[in-house]
Amino acid sequence: MRTLITGGTVLGPSGGVVADVLVEGETVAAVATPGTFAPDTADTVLDATGKYVLPGGIDAHTHMEMPFGGTFSADTFETGTRAAAFGGTTTIIDFAVQPKGSSLLSTLDKWHEKAGGNCAVDYGFHMIVSDVNDETLKEMDSCVDAGVSSFKMFMAYPGVFYSTDGEILRAMGKATENGSMIMMHAENGIAIDQLVAKALAEGHGEPVQHGYTRPPELEGEATSRAITLAKVTGSPLYIVHLSAAQALSAVAEARDNGQNVFAETCPQYLYLSIEDLAKPEFEGAKYVASPPLREKSHQTDLWRGLRTNDLSVVSTDHCPFCFKDQKELGKGDFSKIPNGMPGVEHRMDLLHQGVVAGEISLARWVETCATTPARMFGLFPRKGIIAPGSDADIVIYDPSARQTISARTHHMAVDYSAYEGMTITGAVSTVLSRGTIVVDRGDYLGRPGHGTFLSRDLSQYLN
Ligand code: URP
Ligand code: ZN
Ligand code: ZN
Ligand code: ZN
Repeated sequence: MRTLITGGTVLGPSGGVVADVLVEGETVAAVATPGTFAPDTADTVLDATGKYVLPGGIDAHTHMEMPFGGTFSADTFETGTRAAAFGGTTTIIDFAVQPKGSSLLSTLDKWHEKAGGNCAVDYGFHMIVSDVNDETLKEMDSCVDAGVSSFKMFMAYPGVFYSTDGEILRAMGKATENGSMIMMHAENGIAIDQLVAKALAEGHGEPVQHGYTRPPELEGEATSRAITLAKVTGSPLYIVHLSAAQALSAVAEARDNGQNVFAETCPQYLYLSIEDLAKPEFEGAKYVASPPLREKSHQTDLWRGLRTNDLSVVSTDHCPFCFKDQKELGKGDFSKIPNGMPGVEHRMDLLHQGVVAGEISLARWVETCATTPARMFGLFPRKGIIAPGSDADIVIYDPSARQTISARTHHMAVDYSAYEGMTITGAVSTVLSRGTIVVDRGDYLGRPGHGTFLSRDLSQYLN
């Protein structure tokens, strides 16, 4: 199969150039001056004149069918990866979740069972380590051998995923040894639990209390502590879902000092705020995620962080729970609202609004949403760039199309949109995953099981 994409502006981390892209089988064969290849030598010709041709998005932080808060996130690997494809994301890295008392390898097996044969696009796994002991530390080596080379730990959620500083230190030591990456949910969960108990005791049960009881200072403090622990152990550190200016300053300072510290933010922190959490009639529950949505003033810092590369990656932390029946578990007690928001479908569109508004360049859009996550998590140059030999994961994006986000039209298996009614400039036209057209002008042409597991080795990037 030869597919020729003609006349588009091919985007990469260093900008854009008008070029034709030749795809042979699953990979990119050439990027060449327009007209280099005769259209009649291709099986399919896609005219991308006036459009962007960019590497498929990589969402390095999703939670499909994740057990959490007494329920499961609403998207399966099948529905979630299909929604990702509609939004121009052709790779997800999801989190396998070790329940306390179980082994990392049995957890990994379980996640392979869930995802195998079901994904529309390629996928990899990070491992959530919630039980640090001699056995699981050894198993971290086996995970790396099995292509799972990044481990998420939690300074939040005592009694669930929480690890002590000592446990974190031990896991970081192991990561230094085996060339893997520690990803940190940096919020001071011990202090937060006290604030939550106090709010509930005083009769404050409404969703906005989720935000009040998780102040940005406690994200800043935990981020600084994680950075210190990483420094002591010599391990690289990746702060997930960074939401607060205080946490960003800590990351920026560490990076200025030459420490291997990276961070991601998510679209919800760039576009939504604590005002959404404060919506009446329990509506605020739709916006409960941790860290919580912040005051709008943080957004200016986050956009700056994306420009300066103190924030290197944008991922979604896609963790959808339906408003009806799932978010409602926390009616009257905000601490029982399952934490998480949907978003895997809209990341590329939402960050394109940052380009339209002049917050980031086209190159930064591609870099933060595709190239850097590929590099950081051991997928480059197979993913994250359109170049000869790379997987033909390609998005043709119409920058002048208009669309309105709505739960009525999105493809995620969740009954609301956090961005309901938001108008977007730009839209995905066509998406290729390893050379196969999976989405074309709103039609889904893919299939469950097209997506394959990506074994990831970070040593090349980190050493
Ligand atoms: O609220 C969130 N973020 N839910 C997903 C789990 C996590 O902490 O990433
Ligand atoms: Zn988290
Ligand atoms: Zn109250
Ligand atoms: Zn998450």
